[in-house]
Amino acid sequence: QVPDDHVIVLFGATGDLARRKLLPGLFHLANAGLLPRRWRIVGSTRASSALSDEEFRQHAKAAVAEFGLVKPEGEAWRAFEGTLSFGAADAEDPGPLVAAVAAAEQAIGGSPRRLFHLAVPPTAFGSVIGMLGSSGLAEGGRVIIEKPFGTDLASARALNETVHAVFDESRVFRIDHFLGKESVENILALRFANGLLEPVWNRDHISHVQIDVPETIGIEGRAGFFEGTGTFRDMVVTHLFQVLGFVAMEPPTALAAKPLRDERSKVFEAMRSIDVAHVVRGQYLGYRDEPGVDPRSQTETFVALRAEVDNWRWAGVPFFLRSGKRLAQSREVVTLHFKEPPLRMFPVDARPSADACGNVLVVDFDDPGWIASRFLAKEPGPAMRLAPAQMTFRYADSFQRAHGLEGYERLILEAMLGDQSLFTRSDGIERLWQISEPLLNSPPDVETYAPGSWGPDAINDLIAPHRWYLPDGN
Ligand code: BG6
Repeated sequence: QVPDDHVIVLFGATGDLARRKLLPGLFHLANAGLLPRRWRIVGSTRASSALSDEEFRQHAKAAVAEFGLVKPEGEAWRAFEGTLSFGAADAEDPGPLVAAVAAAEQAIGGSPRRLFHLAVPPTAFGSVIGMLGSSGLAEGGRVIIEKPFGTDLASARALNETVHAVFDESRVFRIDHFLGKESVENILALRFANGLLEPVWNRDHISHVQIDVPETIGIEGRAGFFEGTGTFRDMVVTHLFQVLGFVAMEPPTALAAKPLRDERSKVFEAMRSIDVAHVVRGQYLGYRDEPGVDPRSQTETFVALRAEVDNWRWAGVPFFLRSGKRLAQSREVVTLHFKEPPLRMFPVDARPSADACGNVLVVDFDDPGWIASRFLAKEPGPAMRLAPAQMTFRYADSFQRAHGLEGYERLILEAMLGDQSLFTRSDGIERLWQISEPLLNSPPDVETYAPGSWGPDAINDLIAPHRWYLPDGN
């Protein structure tokens, strides 16, 4: 399926996200032949940091050279570069952007669609959307809005109102790039295309679930953003809860946007409000010394918590979520821990130590990711001794194309095609802020942890009697 002809307007065109992901991603899409037949990309910022067309092309080239899979060279780059232009916009003066969009549309001919990508800080969403409405640019267009969508329930509701005053929900694409990851979507295939797992994917067979996203990176000079955001808003209420939606949802009636989003929303509806007694907030030692960070900052760089989904499938099955900066490893892993069989027929000395991880399904969703079933097997030899063993699926072993599109690329393409399946919806987002209120209103104090560790010690009590799969599992 090829998208309609498009003018893509990139707000925040000189920002970090555009540099690292969006410009390289658009070039990759162009090279893969996945962009429409005719398209133009208009970069935009506030007038105070406006670029000329030529400066924007140089900026894009440097970004693609540094972060792109495909290097900006030869005819491919020249053709791509020719589609780039720039138009600054302030709320009071959208003139240069309006002119740049008009020029891009004229260059394409016909009536291309407009796609606005708001890669700007959340505080700017409202004013950009207002400007798109008042300038008339929004007409017929679609909008991609970055996360975090609001900072709590009230602000998310207010933002939804602002957005809906200009774009109806069918034209709103709230992006959560974890939903564009190949392995996250593969959870749908794993669960609903096979008869193998779905019968055991429930409280009768699963004791608990872990969604673990430790990162080794720190805040990467983003103190301004991070101090006011923290890991819960940056990672958990967004990425980790959305992944939970895929793991916990019921089979949709069809593989289409509405049923898929309905089922994810039902999971969020069934989630219990977060109990702060089951939350560990952490801050790495040295965070308060980072440039731009308040020396008494209570912002968390780490969160671990227990979530509960009170529905027929999951009642009594805790979901343990963890994410943090400056941890020992960068991983993105869902583990489903199965219950022990009803009878322990293997003698105690035939079993591996309690540390050995058997009986677990691992979905690693760090692009391109892998899936493994860890189980106990008989160790070869005369005695009946059990040892952990593993069956692993890796994309490269089964598919020639081991790596498809990066999360952002996938989602930009879906937005151009108008498919909202992998985007979040206003009701789901508001519900997630609602269940987060106890934590946002009375956050427990942050506990410090050493960089390179797995977080504050309290995480072990949080998950007891279970254990974190990482780092002993792999
Ligand atoms: C972003 C967060 O949304 O996701 C970052 O703002 C985080 O703090 C990043 O590092 C992780 O995404 P990925 O795709 O690099 O795993």
